[in-house]
Amino acid sequence: MHGPSGQTGSVWEQGVAAPEIHPPLAGSHRTESVVVGAGIVGLTAALRLLELGRPVIVLEGLRAGRQVSGRSSAKITTQHRLIYRHLIDTVGTERAAAYAEANSCGAAHIRRWIVELGIGCDLEDRSAYTYTQDPERLVDLEAEVTAAGMLGLAAEVTRSVPLPFATAGALRFPGQAQFNPVAYLDGLAQAVTARGGRICENSRVLGVDEAARWRATTAGGAVEADNIVIATNMTIKTPVGMAKRTQPRCHGVMAFRIADASAMDGMFITAEEPTYSFRTGHDQSGPILLALGPHFGTGHDGDVAARFIALEKWVRTHLPVGEALWRWCNEDYDTADRIPLVGEPDPGKAPGFHIATGFNAWGISNGTAAGLMIADSICGRSSPWRELYDPARPLPKDFHRDGESQSLVDSPEAIAPGVGGVIVHGDDKIALRRDDDGTLHALSARCTHKGCIVTWNNAERTWDCPCHGSIFAADGSVIHGPARKPLEPAGFDG
Ligand SMILES: Cc1cc2nc3c(=O)[nH]c(=O)nc-3n(C[C@H](O)[C@H](O)[C@H](O)COP(=O)(O)OP(=O)(O)OC[C@H]3O[C@@H](n4cnc5c(N)ncnc54)[C@H](O)[C@@H]3O)c2cc1C
Ligand code: FES
Repeated sequence: MHGPSGQTGSVWEQGVAAPEIHPPLAGSHRTESVVVGAGIVGLTAALRLLELGRPVIVLEGLRAGRQVSGRSSAKITTQHRLIYRHLIDTVGTERAAAYAEANSCGAAHIRRWIVELGIGCDLEDRSAYTYTQDPERLVDLEAEVTAAGMLGLAAEVTRSVPLPFATAGALRFPGQAQFNPVAYLDGLAQAVTARGGRICENSRVLGVDEAARWRATTAGGAVEADNIVIATNMTIKTPVGMAKRTQPRCHGVMAFRIADASAMDGMFITAEEPTYSFRTGHDQSGPILLALGPHFGTGHDGDVAARFIALEKWVRTHLPVGEALWRWCNEDYDTADRIPLVGEPDPGKAPGFHIATGFNAWGISNGTAAGLMIADSICGRSSPWRELYDPARPLPKDFHRDGESQSLVDSPEAIAPGVGGVIVHGDDKIALRRDDDGTLHALSARCTHKGCIVTWNNAERTWDCPCHGSIFAADGSVIHGPARKPLEPAGFDG
């Protein structure tokens, strides 16, 4: 059977200089603020705190900057498909304006740090286009232009879309940008340590509890702090539960070699479902095109490999691409009102406990705004975005939906080499994976977050949880939370 093309891994990690190694946490420490997670939110918050003269320790479960942020399409834009008409109609002009302002500030701040810190991350100015092939949708694009204009954002509808296939027109936001997020976050991490901050990698936080104020515990040590920032993409602990207020969404992403980036001079996303999003960029060997396919629920699809095959077909039908280089999955969390959840969920009972999640796949600008806002809040500064992002605001209770494993098989014999499947074994379910050489490996199929049964992702070779988006490596170790602990070993002798 023909599998998906390309090597597994994010193109953004290829060709960046080897990052500084930050040793894991060892022993007990005390500081003013501990940040859990070194993605765009955590590193932004940490650097801002240091700029304001405040000490910080960052605890990162894997390597800094290489998870959701480092696997994104890395458009730095206030154009979040069609959102401003929707926000004005649903949450009002004031909050829609706050959303526009927060994201404008987030985007501007990224540019400022790139210049001030001299970060080489392939920052390129581009227009952002939301395009349609349906002339009847132009009215929606016009409505978005009017809404954006009311909020102070420059926008237009253009019939002249710089794409090599026919469209009916596009919403264009000029003055946007794109970059390499891994290189950018390596730059932020360097700036954090240069200013006296400490980053501990391979330091997964296993527990958060109250000490004099807060204590974050890893396998190697603990940090006590007055403030804790849970910047783990999905919260690993929070005074107000976020699992039911969010919904994980996953995408397949592919990078292709292209001969000439000028045929696609912009950053593009479809106005309609299914969503396709693409942009050009560079790796060490030349120009690339990065394309993202339709979203699906993490762990809700038993054949993710087929999604990559379909994405490649779509790309080759529409765009002049060469070899498929890299492919990977990435996930983020949606909220019912399309606005992130950032700040102190319960400042009365849990002062100094800050979270950031629910970026609706627009967390480069929103995530930067979130990190800045949290750091400012720790320093006692007010923020015009606090109400907008309020993580405890009322939200519909029926937004989240759990899912079932898509990998149930009748017997181990049904699991081919290189594949995983879930079998019922007495009262339990076992996640079985067969090595390429035929050896079977058994783990409990119960996600260590709240016990849902995982699905085998046949493209990434991971175990993905269909409830709140935890992702485990084939050996059961945690790649993405909210789970903090690996899948448990399971006794299974066939
Ligand atoms: C396919 C895709 C494309 C996207 N493209 C764009 C785009 O073009 N523009 C845009 O604005 N947004 C985009 N986004 C959204 C954006 O990438 C995210 O919203 C943003 O990067 C989230 O940042 P973060 O800091 O929350 O997460 P992360 O970057 O994942 O950082 C969280 C960190 O916390 C660590 N961590 C987790 N648990 C623990 C623990 N227990 N202990 C210690 N550390 C822990 C993780 O290892 C990770 O490094 C995209 C999202 C997806 C899915
Ligand atoms: S992520 Fe919550 S049960 Fe798996």
